[in-house]
Order: sequence, then structure tokens, then C-alpha cells
Amino acid sequence: MAKLQVLDHPLIQHKLSLIRDEKTGSKEFRELVEEVAMLMAYEVTRDFPLQEVEVQTPVALARTKVIAGRKVGLVPILRAGLGMVDGMLRLIPAAKVGHVGLYRDPETLSPVEYYCKLPSDIADRDLIVIDPMLATGGSATAAITFLKERGAKNIKLMCLIAAPEGIKAVQTAHPDVDIFVAAVDERLNDHGYIIPGLGDAGDRLFGTK
Ligand code: PRP
Ligand code: URA
Repeated sequence: MAKLQVLDHPLIQHKLSLIRDEKTGSKEFRELVEEVAMLMAYEVTRDFPLQEVEVQTPVALARTKVIAGRKVGLVPILRAGLGMVDGMLRLIPAAKVGHVGLYRDPETLSPVEYYCKLPSDIADRDLIVIDPMLATGGSATAAITFLKERGAKNIKLMCLIAAPEGIKAVQTAHPDVDIFVAAVDERLNDHGYIIPGLGDAGDRLFGTK
């Protein structure tokens, strides 16, 4: 079974509280989502292997370490996943970015695909699927399935807030995918919104409604 990791660093938890607040407007919301994504990227990349190198400092030769040639791909689920891309690229600037466009049908809550553009070498990359919300899990499960159908083998999922239902759905469909979240909330309401959650992530990021 894949690992579920709740990233409880105080900075992440503090900023997540501000993100949840209904009084936080779009500009601040966008900035906070980007910052939290950057802080989470720090933990999500913790298992990247290192290799020893020699570096000449001004005073001596140092035997030190660099990341061992990792090829990373970020895959935001449109729209709301876009809000997390820049924060992650701050820490992983060489990552390539693929996009999967999905929206939830408001009646059935099932994901509908409308866009998919991925780096050609996704089979060779460590992919991190990013989306602020893991609610029913339908969108993340479908996005991961698309990636696997196109050859991806090594996939992690990173979300800000998850409902227990969504975690279970992804773990059942994709037991090989580790999940990283900043919070696990109580439940979903009858419209598939996370309670207490933060509302509609896409609308709050982009000021739509
Ligand atoms: C939101 C969110 C996830 C999805 C989560 O996107 O960003 O992609 O819902 O719900 P699920 O786990 O039940 O699938 P939405 O469909 O509202 O589209 P948007 O990002 O374009 O607003
Ligand atoms: N999508 C959102 O943006 N928010 C939720 O609470 C659930 C799905």
C-alpha cells in the first residue's frame, strides 16, 4: 500500500489556515498556495538519491553531495493545480511540466478530461501530480491513470487538503502512488466539497464564481 504522509511543518500549517480563511482574497490566496507548494516540495523530494562529488572551495577540496541526475516532471491538474507549479519550480527548476485538464461534472462528480499535454519522456521521469484538493479522488485517480496509460511508472501525488474518501480512492486504484498532503479533513458534503476545506480552489485562485 502506498504511503500517506501528512506534512505538519508549522509553516505549512500556519499558511494553510490563512488559505482556508474565507476573508483571504485571490491575490493572497495565490501567493500562499505557491508558498505552501514550495514548502511541500521540500518534503516530497526527500527521497531523491544523492551522489558524491568533489568541489574546490576557496580553502580546500570538499567531498560533498549533489542530487543524482533525477529527471522530474510536474503534472498540475487544471485548473487549480496551476497555482502550485511556480512554488515547486522554485525548488526544482529543471522539472518539466505536463498538464492534464479535468473538471468535475457537478451532477455526477465524475472527472471529465478536456486537455492533456505531457513531456515526451514521462516514462523516464519521476512525476509529481499536483492539485490543491483531493475530494472524491475521481480527478486524481483519472489523472494518474492517464499518466500510466502513457508510460509513466514513478508517480507521487501532492495535495493541500484531502478528504478520507479521496485518499482511499487513490490508494485503492493506485496502491503504488505515495500521497503527500498538508491536511486530512473530516469528510465530504453532499456536493462533494471537503468539510471544512477551503471552498472551490479554482474559483478562489482565479477569482471566478
Ligand atoms: C477541483 C480540484 C480537483 C477536483 C477534486 O477541480 O482542483 O481537481 O476538484 O475533486 P475530486 O477529488 O472529487 O475529483 P474542479 O473540478 O473544480 O476544476 P477546476 O480546477 O477547473 O476548478
Ligand atoms: N474541489 C474543490 O475545489 N474544493 C472542494 O472542496 C472539492 C473539490
